[in-house]
Amino acid sequence: MRRVRHYEYGGPEVLRLEDAPEPEPGPGELLVRVTAIGVTLPAVRRVRAGDPAALPAPIGGEVAGEVIAIGPAVLAPALPTDAVAPACEIRVGDRVTGLSFTGSYAEVVTVPAALATPIPEWASDVLAVALIRSGHVALGVLATAAPGPDESMLITGAASGVGHLLVQLAGLPELRGMPNPPGAAGAAGAAGAAGTAGTARTARTAGAARTAGAARTAGAAELPGVRSPRGQAGPRGLRGARRVVAAAGSRDKGGFLRDLGANEVVAYADESWGAPVDIALDAVGGDLLPRALAAVRPGGRLIFFNSGGGTVPAHDLLAGAKTITGFTVARFAATQPDRYRADTEELWELARTGRLRPAIHAELPLARAAEAHRIIEARANLGKVILRP
Ligand SMILES: NC(=O)c1ccc[n+]([C@@H]2O[C@H](COP(=O)([O-])OP(=O)(O)OC[C@H]3O[C@@H](n4cnc5c(N)ncnc54)[C@H](OP(=O)(O)O)[C@@H]3O)[C@@H](O)[C@H]2O)c1
Repeated sequence: MRRVRHYEYGGPEVLRLEDAPEPEPGPGELLVRVTAIGVTLPAVRRVRAGDPAALPAPIGGEVAGEVIAIGPAVLAPALPTDAVAPACEIRVGDRVTGLSFTGSYAEVVTVPAALATPIPEWASDVLAVALIRSGHVALGVLATAAPGPDESMLITGAASGVGHLLVQLAGLPELRGMPNPPGAAGAAGAAGAAGTAGTARTARTAGAARTAGAARTAGAAELPGVRSPRGQAGPRGLRGARRVVAAAGSRDKGGFLRDLGANEVVAYADESWGAPVDIALDAVGGDLLPRALAAVRPGGRLIFFNSGGGTVPAHDLLAGAKTITGFTVARFAATQPDRYRADTEELWELARTGRLRPAIHAELPLARAAEAHRIIEARANLGKVILRP
């Protein structure tokens, strides 16, 4: 099989395509023939710097593909190798999406069975890899923000793989406790129009879009924890916002973000980011963290979930009585497995009915992994960048 690794730290030019033996699934693992790989900012960042002792290093994390074998410890005793994996009811031949800790940039990878999600028949592998991990981050961040009725939200990094799902979800009427308009396909329906944005490549919506037009639009009451049309908060509470301000590095991303449902769009360099918000969801961090915190009204809050680090301006916290809360999807999945599973179901349902539509900025062959990393490093992507082995 072919895989991509790096033998030194640096830019996209250090990525090496090489032949390698197929891995063996260990205890609790699935062996997956990969059809789609999600390229993420954290993975791109890890190629830039790290522990020299860890070289040569694998890359990535998110994959989708077909299960071709199941590790011994996942098998029920005395069942053959095509048996059911009892822990997760996954069989050889099923399509799954999950994380590969030994690197996802390869034709065949191992995936912990506990972290694999079966892909429903109607969904493409590309849709699955763009939807599930990024969607979990987005839903988890919104649940952490716990918006009240009529609160406003700022989302930085709004055009990223995670950010563009956040913008769509935050604007969904049913996540704001309002009835979903009859026949509405959701704010994300226009995501395919993203090609108007600047020099970036045309984004298109992933697999589900084919079925979305014909799909029924589920009423809010059919989704777990969503407010009923009468405005009663469900068990999951509100997760949307009355006013969604999308912030990105370039004004060229404005058309894409408005089509996703943003009420206002700002570029980081803009002098004013508009009226203060109740909540900031910061997907960028670093030098932008103080700016995102300054955009929050006194008494408001910021959810910090990015890999950009940063220093908190303590005076702004003190004088403005603001709160910062961190979120990582790994901790969420480990500590709240029932909520995580419910979110998985909700993500599939939102995508199946066309209310949440991952935008695919580019699909590139595995051999062009360096080009995929260049797109991310140039901050040019509108939605998800995908590799296809
Ligand atoms: N907490 C968690 O569990 C969790 C899990 C997954 C991802 N994340 C975070 O979510 C954020 C988005 O990740 P993603 O994989 O969805 O992003 P992505 O699809 O790879 O998108 C990259 C975009 O991020 C923005 N960006 C901000 N700082 C950047 C930098 N230094 N270099 C390149 N691009 C930068 C750029 O847009 P602009 O220039 O428009 O900002 C860029 O177009 C990241 O901070 C990531 O660490 C968190």
